[in-house]
Amino acid sequence: MNILHVSAECYPVAKVGGLADVVGALPKYQNRIGHTAAVIMPYYKTSWVERATGSIVFFYNLVIEGKTYFSEVIDVDSELGFPLFVVRITELTDRKNVYGYDDDPLRFVAFQRVVMQWVLSLKRKLDIIHCHDHHTGFIPFMMQHCPEFDSLMKVPTLLSIHNAQYQGNFSHDMVGMLPRFRESDLGLLDWYGEINPLAAAIKCAWRVNTVSPSYMVELQEKANGLEGLLRDEKSKCVGILNGIDAETWNPATDDYLIKNYTIRTRAKGREANKKAICDEFGLDASKPLFGFIGRLVWEKGADLLPEIIDTALKQHDVNIILLGSGSPEVERQLEELKTTYKGRYNAHIGYEERMSHQVYAGADFLLMPSRVEPCGLNQLYSLRYGCMPIVRRTGGLRDTVVDIGDGGHGICHDQTSVWDVVYSIERASLFYKDKKAFSANQKQMMEIDHSWENAAGTYASLYEEMIPKKVNIKK
Ligand code: ADP
Ligand code: GLC
Repeated sequence: MNILHVSAECYPVAKVGGLADVVGALPKYQNRIGHTAAVIMPYYKTSWVERATGSIVFFYNLVIEGKTYFSEVIDVDSELGFPLFVVRITELTDRKNVYGYDDDPLRFVAFQRVVMQWVLSLKRKLDIIHCHDHHTGFIPFMMQHCPEFDSLMKVPTLLSIHNAQYQGNFSHDMVGMLPRFRESDLGLLDWYGEINPLAAAIKCAWRVNTVSPSYMVELQEKANGLEGLLRDEKSKCVGILNGIDAETWNPATDDYLIKNYTIRTRAKGREANKKAICDEFGLDASKPLFGFIGRLVWEKGADLLPEIIDTALKQHDVNIILLGSGSPEVERQLEELKTTYKGRYNAHIGYEERMSHQVYAGADFLLMPSRVEPCGLNQLYSLRYGCMPIVRRTGGLRDTVVDIGDGGHGICHDQTSVWDVVYSIERASLFYKDKKAFSANQKQMMEIDHSWENAAGTYASLYEEMIPKKVNIKK
């Protein structure tokens, strides 16, 4: 099958969160099982992109509301295990960050329109266009309802919802950014009086998937306003659990670690990594170490972290390390706590890929008190590195972490509350004391296989279902 992934992020080119990890790994595994899978994404001024070379394979003068944007598609020389293309529209894409600009709606509409023009120009027909999140949500609509792209109408489209909290909605006044379509189709773009690319994609994509089965069920009850739509479209929706790139995320070969380790050598390896990260952060490596890595946003329960840290450190003899950025208020509170709990708690406010790997390899436990977690990759990395996840039972966390009390390998709680998390920290500290059980649990966690091999096959079966079958009409 000839598959094209369209996404705003892709690791290591540009990463904000797990979307990048998925798009940077799934195509690699799809190519390995005999498909041709490529990725197209916007150009950004990230350090990875600035070091890269490539050739321009397509030019297009994109006109949006009378203004012409010169654009090009670059075939990037990469050794990522799949062909990578980036769309450069200098005025809109030559920026450092992936998101967060006032003109984001225009940036992503322009990106999608250039992608469509480039797809029209391709000599080899695509079998599947796989769109990720709202940034690519107009593509299924354009393919079905814009006369310009009529020739693509029969190419199946899949929408993967990585996070329905973010929908990319904007006012009807800006609908002129889209290419021409019949006025009667305007309703397909609308959701509660706004243009909503995620809603449009749910309506127009041939099939829709979420990144875990539980999240699919939850979205029908609570989807930031899209729950009714997801109930209506239920028959074309399915939940497919993400995998991890078991090559990038392998403690035996991970270049970011101070000491590599396998299941057999985990005790020494993890001890060395714990010591290194504790030295770097001024913590005491003889205490149980709890980590948090993530975006400091409401969905991750980040607003509760300052109180969780304060209460846990008052009540328990543990250390806490935090890596994240997001809400300025939460960042401020987390910074403040550093002085109060010097030597027991420390944080790096910012994004630092190296540190994240070292925390998975050095911390004893990883906290994930998420209110919303469509899949979550942190807990999968943490299992692979032998760091015990402490999670709220929601979305993908529910599907991947079972409590030790129920025969599993993690610690689970039901609510995103200070009490639930601090109680889990207490349970974890007790478990930590039983050295034999703790070590046996690390071994079992590291043996779990969450690599993309399985999920790549599941996606392939879904694509197969979508591709129109040729029938013998003589019979
Ligand atoms: P989300 O995509 O919602 O942020 P995921 O669990 O799917 O959550 O993926 C988060 C990814 O981002 C993981 O690879 C995690 O290690 C990484 N990450 C999050 N915050 C940071 C940070 N501050 N520094 C380094 N890596 C981070
Ligand atoms: C989103 C979700 C996260 C998921 C990731 C990759 O960012 O918030 O839970 O793991 O996408 O699918």
